[in-house]
Amino acid sequence: MSSESNKLLCAVLSAFLVYLLASFFSELIYKTEKKKDIKLSYYIEKSEVDEPNLNESDEKAKIIKISEKELTQLLDTADLEKGKNFVNKNCATCHDFSMPIKNKIGPSLANVLNRKIGNLENYKYSKALLNMNKEWNILNLYYFLEKPKEWAVGTKMSYRGITDSSKLLNTIKYLKENSLKNEN
Ligand code: HEC
Repeated sequence: MSSESNKLLCAVLSAFLVYLLASFFSELIYKTEKKKDIKLSYYIEKSEVDEPNLNESDEKAKIIKISEKELTQLLDTADLEKGKNFVNKNCATCHDFSMPIKNKIGPSLANVLNRKIGNLENYKYSKALLNMNKEWNILNLYYFLEKPKEWAVGTKMSYRGITDSSKLLNTIKYLKENSLKNEN
């Protein structure tokens, strides 16, 4: 082989090598760009999907919020005296709390704990409570008193509910202790 053709081969080979290297690097750059793109859109997609999901689980958390065990524990630390005062201010216009049973605008709550919902004979309940078929355990009291109209759709109790959770817990503690006291 002549030195001329050697040179030519060398030139062709190095050109090819440059081409290979160039395409390798451009591929590499392109791929990382692409990866970045994918990553970015992945995050965008994720956050788009994630937020409504989070909200949804928040909604669920709002509804399932608390277990009986948790509520019992919370009631231990609730304030009975504050509950009594709150009830006197907010419920006593419509409800009576002592024995013997007396109904006012609303049914007597003297022994409401564990009583069947809508069960006092001399009181004319709404269908919402009459058809409930549950008991006033602490959980049901919690849900009803937090959002009466949402938990018992169609109730005629116009009270709009207790949004402050410590006031809600104090109230339930009072309803519970007062019922236990009246049972004895
Ligand atoms: C404006 C009057 C009014 C106020 C204030 C009010 N309630 Fe009532 N409540 C009612 C009426 C009326 C009913 C009957 C609801 C029905 O039949 O749907 C009722 C029903 C209830 C029941 C169901 C009792 C049963 O026998 O099934 C509970 C429990 C209750 N109220 C608790 C409370 C508590 C606790 C408060 C204060 C935080 C309160 N209510 C404030 C009018 C009131």
